[in-house]
Amino acid sequence: THCILIGAPVDEGQRVPGCMMGPSAYRVAGLGRVLESLGHTVEDRGDVAPAPPAGETHPNSAIHHLPEVVAWTNALSVAGRSAMPDGMPIFMGGDHSLALGTVAGVAAHAKAADRPLFVIWLDAHSDFHTPETTTSGNLHGTPMAYAAGRPGFAPFPPFPAAVPAENICMFGIRSVDPAEHRMLQETEITVNDMRVLDERGIVAPLREFLDRVRAANGLLHVSLDVDFLDPSIAPAVGTTVPGGATFREAHLVCEILHESGLVTSLDLVELNPFLDDRGRTAKLMVDLVGSMMGQKVFDRRTRSF
Ligand code: ARG
Ligand code: MN
Ligand code: MN
Ligand code: MN
Repeated sequence: THCILIGAPVDEGQRVPGCMMGPSAYRVAGLGRVLESLGHTVEDRGDVAPAPPAGETHPNSAIHHLPEVVAWTNALSVAGRSAMPDGMPIFMGGDHSLALGTVAGVAAHAKAADRPLFVIWLDAHSDFHTPETTTSGNLHGTPMAYAAGRPGFAPFPPFPAAVPAENICMFGIRSVDPAEHRMLQETEITVNDMRVLDERGIVAPLREFLDRVRAANGLLHVSLDVDFLDPSIAPAVGTTVPGGATFREAHLVCEILHESGLVTSLDLVELNPFLDDRGRTAKLMVDLVGSMMGQKVFDRRTRSF
C-alpha cells in the first residue's frame, strides 16, 4: 500500500491544549518507519495549513472556535480528496473535529468514483452532536453527525454525499449525551456500545459489518479515537472514559481490519502528547496502525516453537 501521512494538528475542536502536537508525536514514535518495515511505501505530505479563519458565527454561543474549525474542515477536505486517488491517507490528528474535513474529502472522492463509503467509528463517544445540539460547544463532538448528513451544520460547507446510516458502524461507545442518544435512535446506525462488546465480543459485529462493505464494493474509512482504548493503556487523551477497549481487543480489531483488505483511509485522533506517559500512548497508536497494516503480534508464518 502507498501510505500518505497527512498531519492535522487540530486543537480547536476541544479545550485541552496539546492535540496540535499529535502529528509530531506520531513521527517521533516512528509511524513511517513501522509502515516501511511492513513493506509499504510512505509519503509524508507534512502538516495541513488551514486558510485564515473567516469569522463565522452561530446562534449557539457555547460553540468554541467555530471559524477555525470551519477553516480546518475546508483544508482537510481538500487534502483528503486529493490524497485518495494516490494511496491510503493516514490523517495524524489533532482532535476529532478533523474528521469533519477528512470524511468530507473521502466522501467527495467516493462520490466521484461512484463507490459507496462506509465508516467505522472506534470511540468512547458517538460524536453525533450538531452545532445546534452541543452543550459543551466542543466541535470534536460533531463529525459523525456531519458525515451522516444531519441538518444543522451551517456555516460548515454542505457535506458532499451523506454516508447512509446503514454504512456507519460504531465500536467502543460508552459516553453518549441525551441529544445524541435521541438523534441516534432515529437512525439505522449500528452502535456497538460496550454492552454489545461484552456480550458478543468484538469479532462477530466487526465481521458482520465488513461483510457488508465487501458485498457493496465499498470504500472504508476508519476513525480511531484514542479514547476508544481503556485509559489505563492510553492515558494521553483529554476525554478519558473508563471501561474502554483492552490492548488485546484493539489489536484484534486492527488485525481483522487488515485481513479484510478493505480499509482505504484512516484517522488517528485525540492523541494529546502533553498528557502522555513517556510516549506510551503514541507508541501504542503506532503499534495499532502496524496491526492494521499487516503486523502480527504473533506471526504464524515465521515463528514456530
Ligand atoms: N459528547 C461530549 C461533547 O460533545 C464529548 C465528545 C468527545 N468527543 C471526542 N471526539 N473525544 O462534548
Ligand atoms: Mn482553544
Ligand atoms: Mn471522538
Ligand atoms: Mn472520544
